[in-house]
Amino acid sequence: MATNSNIRTRPMIEIHFKDLTLTLKKNNKHLLRCVTGKLSPGRVSAVMGPSGAGKTTFLSALTGKTAAGCAVTGQILVNGKNEPIQAYRKIIGYVPQDDIVHGNLTVEENLRFSARVIESLGLQPVRDSLVGTVEKRGISGGQRKRVNVGLEMVMEPSLLILDEPTTGLDSSSSQLLLRALRREALEGVNICMVLHQPSYALFKMFDDLILLAKGGLIAYLGPVKKLEEYFSSIGIDIPDRVNPPDHLIDILEGIDKPASITREQLPVRWMLYNGYPIPVDMLDLTEGLATPYGSNSNTSDGASSEQSFSSDMPDDSKSSVLKSKDLSNRKTPGIFRQYRYFLGRYKPTPVFLSYEYLSCIRHLVVKG
Ligand SMILES: Nc1ncnc2c1ncn2[C@@H]1O[C@H](COP(=O)(O)OP(=O)(O)OP(=O)(O)O)[C@@H](O)[C@H]1O
Ligand SMILES: [Mg+2]
Repeated sequence: MATNSNIRTRPMIEIHFKDLTLTLKKNNKHLLRCVTGKLSPGRVSAVMGPSGAGKTTFLSALTGKTAAGCAVTGQILVNGKNEPIQAYRKIIGYVPQDDIVHGNLTVEENLRFSARVIESLGLQPVRDSLVGTVEKRGISGGQRKRVNVGLEMVMEPSLLILDEPTTGLDSSSSQLLLRALRREALEGVNICMVLHQPSYALFKMFDDLILLAKGGLIAYLGPVKKLEEYFSSIGIDIPDRVNPPDHLIDILEGIDKPASITREQLPVRWMLYNGYPIPVDMLDLTEGLATPYGSNSNTSDGASSEQSFSSDMPDDSKSSVLKSKDLSNRKTPGIFRQYRYFLGRYKPTPVFLSYEYLSCIRHLVVKG
């Protein structure tokens, strides 16, 4: 039964990005280019594309982290405001590709005794097990991945960004994880993750897809439900019994060559479809695309939800990738308070004290 104590309210975050472009200063190579779209609260978005397309770069840009040597242009708006995304860092969770769990803690300790998260991720059977280290084996790889995701879930973020959380998991473990994330989305959390080769069942669990082509350009951004309709409108039909993302990534990789369009033309096709301006150096790719196969005026709520996007953007907004004050409205207990909670629930051995306490403090500092 729902009680006041288990009804949580979280601030909602909607992220708009317009013409987001990342360029390597040394050689003017684009890592991301003209990336326009939005991530909405309560929805789970997948970022897919060939290896090296810029998926991780896109996630990093969303959190305001860009590598040194990169120039960033374009806008990132948070709830329609041109505020630096870093100002919301306390309510943004990021699960990197690499492990961030503490091998010498149990599952329950890693997850700060959050029964909700442990249950949601199906980790009750191993809650008292040590996660394990290279020297000392602990829980399984799939369980470990789920603990990684859980580390961010316990922080109750409003925007949760994950880089390949399902890589290395079998289809049923991946679905278990996605079900847990979908439950978070029901609370209004905005979830965006990179994933490779999902099963058809897993793919269907996503609301939106951001399909990146090489060079960090968008080939499609919109509801999963409208994906096939859009590609069919530009002359690409998904063959029967083929998983749509597999087929599209084969085309973007150059493995499959459709008759109607080249892989380099797909991002241009997307720009034309949405009425976005085409960069001058890409104009020659529009050749042969003059006939507007698709026009998003034909689709009421599909990829077309982007149509009105440019007009949503305030004119005076500039790149929001800057340092700033905290706007997340979240009070996180101080490091020492968190450390005290931690001490209260763990009786350390000397070895643990020297190594694991330090890494725990580091963990708290990073989150705090
Ligand atoms: N700091 C950087 N300096 C130079 N090149 C970079 C930098 N960061 C990323 N790149 C390049 O940008 C491209 C996109 O990299 P990114 O890691 O975003 O790809 P990805 O789509 O996540 O690939 P994968 O599926 O293999 O993880 C790659 O060609 C990569 O070499
Ligand atoms: Mg990557």
